[in-house]
Amino acid sequence: MDINQDNVMEKIVALSKRRGFVFPGSEIYGGLANSYEYGPAGAELKRNIQEEWWRVFIRERSDMVGLDSSIILHPKVWEASGHVSGFSDAMVECKKCHTRTRADHLIENDMEAKGESMSVEGKKEAELDAIIAEHKIACPVCGAFNWTPVRKFNLLFETHVGIVPEAQSKVYLRGETAQGIFVAFKNIIDSTRVRLPFGVGQMGKSFRNEITKGNFIFRTLEFEQAEIEYFFDPEATDWKELFEGWKAAMHGFATRNLGIEASHLRWREHGDEERSFYSKRTEDLEYLFPFGFKELWGLAYRTDYDLNQHAKFSGVDLSYTAPATGRKFMPHVIEPAVGINRLMAMVMLEAYREEGDRTYLKLPPRLAPYKAAIFPLLANKPQLLELALKVHDDLQKHFPVAWDDRGNIGKRYYAQDEIGTPFCITVDFDTLGEADGKSNPDHKGTVTVRDRDTGTQERIAIENLASFLHGKIYR
Ligand code: GAP
Repeated sequence: MDINQDNVMEKIVALSKRRGFVFPGSEIYGGLANSYEYGPAGAELKRNIQEEWWRVFIRERSDMVGLDSSIILHPKVWEASGHVSGFSDAMVECKKCHTRTRADHLIENDMEAKGESMSVEGKKEAELDAIIAEHKIACPVCGAFNWTPVRKFNLLFETHVGIVPEAQSKVYLRGETAQGIFVAFKNIIDSTRVRLPFGVGQMGKSFRNEITKGNFIFRTLEFEQAEIEYFFDPEATDWKELFEGWKAAMHGFATRNLGIEASHLRWREHGDEERSFYSKRTEDLEYLFPFGFKELWGLAYRTDYDLNQHAKFSGVDLSYTAPATGRKFMPHVIEPAVGINRLMAMVMLEAYREEGDRTYLKLPPRLAPYKAAIFPLLANKPQLLELALKVHDDLQKHFPVAWDDRGNIGKRYYAQDEIGTPFCITVDFDTLGEADGKSNPDHKGTVTVRDRDTGTQERIAIENLASFLHGKIYR
């Protein structure tokens, strides 16, 4: 992607809807702010990113195990973690048009529009009020300068278990997947042979009552989080080395596995004001979105804060006993936390290409929703149709593949390019090898394979297709 290209975000939003990647949420009812649905191509792309994360960080590491805990946990979990009292954003409301917005975003966006920059992370409500007043920041929707005082707004979604919505039955949809890992920590060490240092990874839906503008799927009410708690003995392992190791792993995943250019990524360390009080160091891996460098993936050294809190609130001993020495202690953790949907937005932006009148997604083949599309040259020739269907059905046993027999071949290429399908396979008259004097007898039993990125075509024998594609896709 050319990051400076005009309207690239709008183009991705339009392409997403046109080609079935992402639809606005509940659209037939007029939509629901900050919610989206993933269409057939989007569901495949998101799943491929999830599988890549799980493969690289869980399956291919002998120091990692996976977990799948509940979305609804005991409400005390969120008291212990500090989410009930502290998981909040400072909000303001315009008294004229009633637009609600995050005070930090209001200030930072206003400064950016004036060509200045200001980070207000960690500032108290009164300080934010003072900045808004001093800079006379108007409502971006109606232009009025008439704000309510800044006040805290909790991001946890509340609901009730059972049929009576009373205080005792109140529960929360999880605001992060991380807490489920701490809650399951004792069961994991009791039921497996893991030894420190080791990590537990989990991926699943998290929910946040975000009421600020979301920038497509960058910030949504519900999102797929992928988090790791990497437990270690602070006396045996140098946390700084571990931290650097995780930075390299995260950066490597973005560049090698997701195909991101290194110059589109940067690290930003949280200052004292911004960092959570329990974290000794937090750094964000940021991506250059069309709206600026923004957090993609957080990395925090959370110490033993969470395990201590859950031990205190539950009354259960969550300490670890070193097998060699019998020493009992609370492990510390380093936490890499990312949103899969945010990764997907980045992958689509990065892959977007316009060349002449051709638009295509240069997705890494492993991530592409469909690895190949199969076309009969003409849909009304039964022999072509029959053979093309056979090629399709055979390849479908190996990879997700698409089928298209509508319109001319150029239009079919155009549609597959926009979905990012790396290879288009056409069954033509040469494939049939009929002795009609028109087809090339050397091409009998071969198909054309067209490469998405170069547009070049080569003929491959049908019996070699699966291994040819496999070599190109999973190289
Ligand atoms: N356990 C730590 C934690 O949850 P976070 O920085 O709040 O930290 C981690 O979230 C990651 O989750 C972010 O870097 C981002 O990729 C993703 N994320 C957070 N809120 C999100 C939202 N509303 N929509 C989409 N992704 C979100």
